Amino acid sequence: MNYKQALDNKIFEIVSKASQELNLESYVIGGFVRDYLLQRDFKKDIDIVAIGSGIDLALKVSELLPNKPKVQVFKNYGTAMLRYKEIDIEFVGARKESYAEHSRNPIVENGTLEDDQNRRDFTINALAFSLNEKNYGDLVDPFNGLTDLENKLIKTPLDPDITYSDDPLRMMRAIRFATQLNFTIEAESLASIATNKDRIKIISGERIVDELNKILSTAKPSIGFLHLYKTGLLDIILPELTALNNVEEIEGHTHKNNFYHTLEVVDNICPNTDDVWLRWAALLHDIGKAPTKRFNKKQGWTFHGHEFLGGKMVKKIFERLHMPLNHKMKFVAKMVMLSSRPIVLSEDIVTDSAVRRLVFDAGEDVDNLMTLCEADITTKNPAKFKKYHNNFDIVRRKIIEVEERDHVRNFQPPISGEEIMEMFNLQPSKEIGVLKEAVKEAILEGEIPNEYQAAFDFVLAKAEKMGLKKIN
Ligand code: CTP
Repeated sequence: MNYKQALDNKIFEIVSKASQELNLESYVIGGFVRDYLLQRDFKKDIDIVAIGSGIDLALKVSELLPNKPKVQVFKNYGTAMLRYKEIDIEFVGARKESYAEHSRNPIVENGTLEDDQNRRDFTINALAFSLNEKNYGDLVDPFNGLTDLENKLIKTPLDPDITYSDDPLRMMRAIRFATQLNFTIEAESLASIATNKDRIKIISGERIVDELNKILSTAKPSIGFLHLYKTGLLDIILPELTALNNVEEIEGHTHKNNFYHTLEVVDNICPNTDDVWLRWAALLHDIGKAPTKRFNKKQGWTFHGHEFLGGKMVKKIFERLHMPLNHKMKFVAKMVMLSSRPIVLSEDIVTDSAVRRLVFDAGEDVDNLMTLCEADITTKNPAKFKKYHNNFDIVRRKIIEVEERDHVRNFQPPISGEEIMEMFNLQPSKEIGVLKEAVKEAILEGEIPNEYQAAFDFVLAKAEKMGLKKIN
């Protein structure tokens, strides 16, 4: 079949011309072809395979382009890259590869197109369009990748044990593609992932997280996490999550399965946010429950302090997986720590002071916190479901009201420590802290508005009780 129409980008003409000048063959391969055939326009980069030197081809293409873009050369891998109109074009020489047992780095030998297609991860990623004059636009599909695309199947070109063991990241990629594209992973492949799962340990945290982020960015991440769980990969990557898949019964008391609950929460949050960090918070919001689980006759199962412990565990996970230890990590930890607050608050009459405290503690992230807590409602009891959502609507309305009036979202004390020191001729001391804290508490409790005069009068009265005298 011919797909000339897929190659209407000028760059393909130039690659073709450069290949002719160098007297070698070239093909566009991988994600570009797959996504074109799926009519999915996610892809930004283009992979070109040359039967010969990919580096030479990249240099020649740059020479033929009007602005002669810079070519980045990765000599060790025999690859090169250039940017053309915001698109990354990667060039690689066709390879026959064998891998060293403990490393992802291949030992590279030159090969034919078929050798190169053989060593790719999945049949749907081994599809190529020819850029050669004689058959420009022809689809080269030795493994029936097109049929697998139509049948929505993730399948390896070679025996899956070889493909996955060669590059264990592909186990994550299989699961990621299945989630992104809503494809099935062939049974043999899935079994092979389970067999080879321990090989994931040679993959860096960064690469694993890259795939986890892609899974979390889909419309239904639970598909991926269930595959990760069933193949045993999740237990290696995020044992904190699999620890939640444990329901106990004592004296007729059980508790919900927090693993499946978590997956539901993650799916629930997706229509309401594209922020992958908020999705991480959904994924990790209950991780403190496994280590804090206790049983007592009076209360049944409890998870006291799970939010606090969970917040601390977030940092450990981020460290272990080499994730950024910056404000993103702090955000996720904060969301986990505060994750039960809105629900506890809404179980009672929603008072202004409770809402003010919530806004004070969550600050700028209060809306995200509400989005998380709404997703956390997974009860199958329609009456309860409605009640919780109604209560959260009230909380959301009150957040706006309280914030308009009291501005506690980014709380700045209406009266400063310096001013209090001047009022009573005090040196920095414990009393200043006590007075400042009392002002904050009075505002949060709604005893005084968040205004200068009210705070001033409040400090005067409070100081008098403490035996302090205002000067002049
Ligand atoms: N590839 C592979 N094994 C890997 C990574 C990549 O065989 N571990 C091959 C596949 O043929 C893939 C191509 O290299 O199609 C390009 O890889 P990459 O850009 O990572 O993935 P894409 O398939 O292009 O898709 P996406 O951008 O969604 O990751």
